[in-house]
Amino acid sequence: MADRWDSAAPLYATSEHRAGTDLDALIEVASGSGTEVALDIATGAGHTAIALAPHVARVIATDRSEAMLAQTRELASSRGVTNVEARWADAHELPFPAATFDIVTCRIAPHHFDDLDPSLREVARVLKPGGRYVLEDSVAPDDADAARFLHEVEVARDSTHLRTLTAGQWVAALERAGLSVEHSESFRKRRGFESWLARGDCDEAGADAVRARFGTAPAAAIEALEIERQDGTTVAFTDDKILLLARRA
Ligand SMILES: C[S@@+](CC[C@H](N)C(=O)[O-])C[C@H]1O[C@@H](n2cnc3c(N)ncnc32)[C@H](O)[C@@H]1O
Repeated sequence: MADRWDSAAPLYATSEHRAGTDLDALIEVASGSGTEVALDIATGAGHTAIALAPHVARVIATDRSEAMLAQTRELASSRGVTNVEARWADAHELPFPAATFDIVTCRIAPHHFDDLDPSLREVARVLKPGGRYVLEDSVAPDDADAARFLHEVEVARDSTHLRTLTAGQWVAALERAGLSVEHSESFRKRRGFESWLARGDCDEAGADAVRARFGTAPAAAIEALEIERQDGTTVAFTDDKILLLARRA
């Protein structure tokens, strides 16, 4: 899996992940007061860690891809951010003692984790009592056909996309890990189609298959995902992200 992320790292540095109302809301919900020690899991090119940095004392930005961590260090340095430390870590086995962090964040990544429940138990373990977890990830559309379509095309473009959960399934997963969900909001996020496709790991034949699949999307998916087509090609679609704030007892 590291290879897939290593080669995508430069794309993530400049992708739509770098900013957005979802990231602004995540930082607001994390409500740092300048004193907290925070952990950002699966930091990618570091956009969440770097946005959080001015609001906390220190952020440890972790990822399983060294190339992503290099992007994080470069971005932090280019912005003059000095309180972000990039460290290798697998989300399933965080190399930190219990009750280390006041805030843990994880944005648009747990749908890639091999085992969701153990990764969330790790979040609960490293949070201090009363500490908060802020999670953002993709959400399946309510309509079953649209949900199936979105999951199929996500998996076809990206072999590391493992799950497309409903809002209720995300909340239940956090609660199973012993985290109490206190806040939930959702966002529509528009994706430029070809740049979304390029961030995956399918070959050109696979990309053509995804392009063709969008061309024959069911009506429910066209509506739920606002699939935009021009001159017979897909140019964009819009999906939902959920933002959850949960607290460790
Ligand atoms: C979509 S990117 C994350 C975007 C980033 N959080 C942001 O806000 O811009 C997904 C990241 O998850 C990382 N990842 C996937 N599985 C992981 C795991 N088991 N442990 C740690 N990182 C993982 C990948 O290396 C990749 O950098």
